[in-house]
Amino acid sequence: MCGIVGYVGPRPALEVLIPGLRRLEYRGYDSAGIVVAAPGGLRVLKTPGKIQRLEERVRAEWMGTSAAGSQCGIAHTRWATHGPPTEVNAHPHTDHCGRLAIVHNGIIENYADLKRQLEARGHVFTSQTDTEVLAHLIGVLAEENDVLSAICAALRQVEGTLGVAVVHADHPDRIWVVRRGSPIVLGMGDSETIVASDAAAIVAHTNRVIYLDDDDVAIVTAGSIDVRTAQNVPVSRQVAQLDWDVHTAEKSGYEHFMLKEIFEQPEALRNAMRGRLDPATGSAKLGGLAMDPREIAQVRRVVLVACGTSLHAGMVGRLYFEDLADLPTSVEQAAEFRYRNPILSPHDLVVAISQSGETADTLAAVREARQKGAALAGICNVVGSTIARETGRGVYLHAGPEIGVASTKAFTCQVVVLLLIALKFARCRRLCREEGERIGEAIASTPDLVARVLERNDRIAAVAEKYAAARDVFFIGRGHLYPVALEGALKLKEISYAHAEGYHAAELKHGPIALLEPSVPVVALALDVPGRDKMIGNIQECRARHAPVIALATDGDSTIASMVEDVIWLPPCSPLVAPIPAAVALQLLAYHVARVRGCEIDQPRNLAKSVTVE
Ligand code: AGP
Ligand code: GLU
Repeated sequence: MCGIVGYVGPRPALEVLIPGLRRLEYRGYDSAGIVVAAPGGLRVLKTPGKIQRLEERVRAEWMGTSAAGSQCGIAHTRWATHGPPTEVNAHPHTDHCGRLAIVHNGIIENYADLKRQLEARGHVFTSQTDTEVLAHLIGVLAEENDVLSAICAALRQVEGTLGVAVVHADHPDRIWVVRRGSPIVLGMGDSETIVASDAAAIVAHTNRVIYLDDDDVAIVTAGSIDVRTAQNVPVSRQVAQLDWDVHTAEKSGYEHFMLKEIFEQPEALRNAMRGRLDPATGSAKLGGLAMDPREIAQVRRVVLVACGTSLHAGMVGRLYFEDLADLPTSVEQAAEFRYRNPILSPHDLVVAISQSGETADTLAAVREARQKGAALAGICNVVGSTIARETGRGVYLHAGPEIGVASTKAFTCQVVVLLLIALKFARCRRLCREEGERIGEAIASTPDLVARVLERNDRIAAVAEKYAAARDVFFIGRGHLYPVALEGALKLKEISYAHAEGYHAAELKHGPIALLEPSVPVVALALDVPGRDKMIGNIQECRARHAPVIALATDGDSTIASMVEDVIWLPPCSPLVAPIPAAVALQLLAYHVARVRGCEIDQPRNLAKSVTVE
């Protein structure tokens, strides 16, 4: 939920730390800070607000000093969980004697007990954060041990999630790093090492990385990476190769990452299905799923667990598994699932859907499912992410980094991957090869389908501008398009701050219709797919209350056009893949409303890209 960057090497650390923080700002941006090892000891700067303010202070206060030349340092952009986003609560936090400093991503569950114990020993805390307690704990343990042993001892006392980087005034040539539940990646450069929460801060310098495992502790210097277990036992970690470059992580000329990622969807969808369609068998090739037909045939139920946009993708996926593979399938909000003592068996396949692969509730749901003996699989976008590794198998989206906090290409790629998995399962059951081939053709058509929607961007922008002032908006849909109505509402909510509600079209008359009036537009997903005729009745219900209706309709559908205020025309498509063009249209609608309203689109207020806390 925050961004960590560390550097040790021949260059001034500032050259890597500040640009690196900028690439991680989407992970959380309510305050920021930096610490470097300088001849007189540690130099620390912290500011509330965005990285821009930290950069200004560094320039004003460090330029021309030894801090500017320091070759070892760590930096942090915060998404607060304990204590408001003030300067004093910003990271880094130092120990009681100011010789050691840490930055942290995650939550220390038992920080209050530890704080009381340390206060009883005379420690004085300046912040309200859980992180400062960890800094003091390591510092006091480092008085009788070396720093590595002190960190390992602290890990035995701390409960919660940690992605931590530590520097010490006595060791200006190294950084200690801990990973427990929050991601940490190490970049192996040319006689330099970069530490980061996410490879986006590393890819400009090297594409050789090591993803730490939970309870790994690493000591990094300019030319070495020494990984240990929390019991201080050396362990080796595989070096991975990043498959995207720094430009991929840039905006490539778009005004916002979100718009770039909306327009990347044809390519992202191609990547998501690349090498995975098998016309010869009418099935799908999903090596990462590591399930042979016999194992697939033994699956009695599928449980899809996720949060937010990924949950909406799961709602589409449920229809695929049930309709194509005859498999009873449930979709569970991950936080609910993890706490309700779910009934599971070894014949259940729990599939965790998570773009970041780090969402705390989804990760906890995976652990609960494993605890109960269910089979696991993951659908993630971030390679090497925790959920991807803890499920042990699954299907990567290969959608490329998704920087905009509002998820777009991940959703459409998740829908395609869910359809690919359902197709594979269905061909291991009752689906014939010819039908499987037809479904494969529908999947293969989605990149071009999306490209045709993107060509209508100006028309969608015009509709958005007409309704941009609306404070309350409804989205209604049925069948495969009902989850898209929910997703469209979430997009509009989270980037334009309008109050938007997604509803099943049949549900409106059970109460919410009381809210309809001329100032409340209704977006009706009325494509030419099953349920369209019932949508006509729902549209009439809305018009009878004088609510303006904006219909998503299939090209040429004059019946729908005749009864609504505005139409967003979409190309004809198979009902199975209709959620994809519909979602893209609603992504653009939300984007343009937010643009007209002057909202901060890539980093909406109060949000962060990856919710790694409960
Ligand atoms: C989507 O636009 C939101 N940013 C949010 O709902 C997101 O989908 C949710 O936090 C789940 O994230 P994940 O897919 O990385 O697990
Ligand atoms: N729990 C820590 C804090 O509130 C870290 C939050 C984060 O992950 O950014 O400062």
